[in-house]
Amino acid sequence: MKNMILIGFMGAGKTTVGRILAREKEMAFVDTDERIADMEGRRIPDIFAEEGEGYFRDLETKLLGRMQEDTFDSVISVGGGMPVREQNRKLLRSLGCVIYLSAAKETILERVRDDGSRPMLEGGDLEAKVERLMREREVIYRQTAHVNVRTDGRSVRQVLQIIEQETRRFG
Ligand code: S3P
Repeated sequence: MKNMILIGFMGAGKTTVGRILAREKEMAFVDTDERIADMEGRRIPDIFAEEGEGYFRDLETKLLGRMQEDTFDSVISVGGGMPVREQNRKLLRSLGCVIYLSAAKETILERVRDDGSRPMLEGGDLEAKVERLMREREVIYRQTAHVNVRTDGRSVRQVLQIIEQETRRFG
């Protein structure tokens, strides 16, 4: 089976759902943030602080290029900003079936509120930041994905069931 790629906003559940999905389907699990941190030998917040966002975005594109060669039969959880670059959207879709995990702003805020590991949400009014970024990205996520799955009010188990149903046609 080809790759299953989970995209969506920070806190949408990509990593949580992705790990279980991979285990159940006996596929490898890949987290793009983890791979970037490994490539660089430092944490994502440190990369942002020391090099800036542009540098991190270049690493994301470089990684997606590599993954075309070395990543198969995997569930891939993708950093929330990865699909923003048009080039990345093409690369993501060519990797396999892209699944958008979406959630309402309130759900996202609850999940990211006490998490200091997300540089895009640091400083200033958290709610305003989340709202602005979600507004900018919603259409991008929709355009990139083959399948949309809402996660609000759904357990991880229910989300997994919907993914299973919706991706069957992709083989
Ligand atoms: C980012 C999301 C993060 C990480 C980085 C930037 C974003 O990943 O890639 O902090 O721009 O939305 P998660 O979506 O896994 O939190």
